[in-house]
Amino acid sequence: MSDKERTIILGIETSCDETAAAVVADGREVISNVIYTQIPTHTLYGGVVPEIASREHVLKINQVIKKALSDAELTWEDIDAIAVTYGPGLVGPLLIGVSTAKAVAYAKNIPLVGVNHIEGHICANYLCDKEMEPPYMCLVASGGHSHIVRVDDYDKYTIIGRTHDDAAGEAFDKVARAIGLGYPGGPKVDKLAREGDPNAITFPRASVGDSPYDFSFSGIKSAVLNYLNGAEMKGEEVNKADVAASFQQAVIDVLCDHTITAAVNFGMKTVALAGGVAANSLLRETMKERAEAKGLTFRCPELVYCTDNGAMIASAGYFEYKAGRRADLYLNAIPNLKIGER
Ligand code: KG4
Ligand code: ZN
Repeated sequence: MSDKERTIILGIETSCDETAAAVVADGREVISNVIYTQIPTHTLYGGVVPEIASREHVLKINQVIKKALSDAELTWEDIDAIAVTYGPGLVGPLLIGVSTAKAVAYAKNIPLVGVNHIEGHICANYLCDKEMEPPYMCLVASGGHSHIVRVDDYDKYTIIGRTHDDAAGEAFDKVARAIGLGYPGGPKVDKLAREGDPNAITFPRASVGDSPYDFSFSGIKSAVLNYLNGAEMKGEEVNKADVAASFQQAVIDVLCDHTITAAVNFGMKTVALAGGVAANSLLRETMKERAEAKGLTFRCPELVYCTDNGAMIASAGYFEYKAGRRADLYLNAIPNLKIGER
């Protein structure tokens, strides 16, 4: 098929610690996907340092975009629109992506589309299942967010549940730090938990007030810290793998139960995952098992599209573009942008 018949979007993502750009056709077919991760830099500090992240984005963004185009064997003339994350995220890092996208859009006279990072995570599902279409219930769990979102249409979202305190990924990162695994915690807890007993320690499965769909992860994080302090005071050796496995099981039980309850109560036929925590092996297995036990279809993006990437932004940008939305050169970074806000 000639590229004249397809809509080709360049997606740019710089909201946190990945400098990423990708070229995607018709919102679903990834032609190139370039990710420069700053994880080795931030590992030195035990977490993301926003100022350093901004500086690394400045150094890498042009190279990453050029590589996305050259890997795709395309030129600027082939690009129908540039999609860029403008929130939520860290303001400095977001501004690097937004100003770069605006500069190129202006210089090359290419339409510009602003994309919500969380909506981008959700759209990662379309990159992996070419037939997938709304409506469905999606759990979006990342380092900064934990939401249950009803995806009503490609560009229409309703928040059904949210966390009242920490995000799920944040809880993984904090517990990892407490047991000495370092940053980023999620993948390390995931790996260590495979060697532990998920029933060794009973950590709380918190629910919030009268909402069966909301989350609270600060209690479980404190429970893990109390358990570790208690053991230290008694001079007892801690089995880190058991702590990791028991903590992970408690978080995943809550994530799965609330999401599946939401899907059933709102009459959805499909449950999907999105965001960095969707890369968790136990979450993927457990959600699949429990969804299918209720007769629901389960979908999740491939691992590379769970954590931050430009392809998911290009996909979300495609649906915004098709809906006729364009950003102008006043587009600004919005660090606390909400899902569904236009
Ligand atoms: O989506 P993402 O790359 O960035 C944000 O938008 O926040 O998500 C990063 C988060 C981190 O908290 C990281 O620890 C978590 O996702 N994460 C995981 C796994 N891989 C990444 N959490 C649990 N298990 C994993 N395998
Ligand atoms: Zn993210």
